[in-house]
Amino acid sequence: MKVLVATGSKYGSTREIGNAIAGELSQLGFDVDCMDASDVLGIHFYDAVIVGSAVYGGLWRRDASALVSDNADELRRRDVWLFSVGMSGVKAPRQETNEPRELTSLVKAHEHHTFDGALDYDRLNVGEKAIIRALNPPKGDFRDFAAIRDWARGVATELRAVAAL
Ligand SMILES: Cc1cc2nc3c(=O)[nH]c(=O)nc-3n(C[C@H](O)[C@H](O)[C@H](O)COP(=O)(O)O)c2cc1C
Repeated sequence: MKVLVATGSKYGSTREIGNAIAGELSQLGFDVDCMDASDVLGIHFYDAVIVGSAVYGGLWRRDASALVSDNADELRRRDVWLFSVGMSGVKAPRQETNEPRELTSLVKAHEHHTFDGALDYDRLNVGEKAIIRALNPPKGDFRDFAAIRDWARGVATELRAVAAL
């Protein structure tokens, strides 16, 4: 079964989560392509698609949200999982739009999961630093790779169940 894992990531923490999910699925015997959402040429090669994005200002990265919305018809005919990566201490007013929930319902994804991300203050640009200074969230790497691999194993179990139908 061919699976695509695609991510929208600015500073790499979401990309590494995608890599971990792809690695776990490969070990479990799936044929997995893992790439940045902006590099995806089409999704018709895949039986299942997992799309993840970092959340900035309450929204997904544009490359990841565009991958989902531009391919919504094809995605609805496939098994899809979505995940967001964010920091619970960073709340933006636009977060109320709940884009991940809208994308989940648009493509009838099996699930939308949220993982804790990573915030390296020194790498942010001036505008981002100003936002983070104002919100003062906990800084550091809060990614739980054991939980991420667990989630990937859950996806694998569901995929096998779907394939057996
Ligand atoms: C300027 C800025 C805005 C952010 N806005 C949000 C947000 O609205 N919601 C959230 O959960 N996390 C927010 N975050 C946290 C990021 O989503 C988190 O650091 C994520 O791991 C970054 O992923 P990346 O390394 O793949 O770019 C924000 C971080 C920055 C620097």
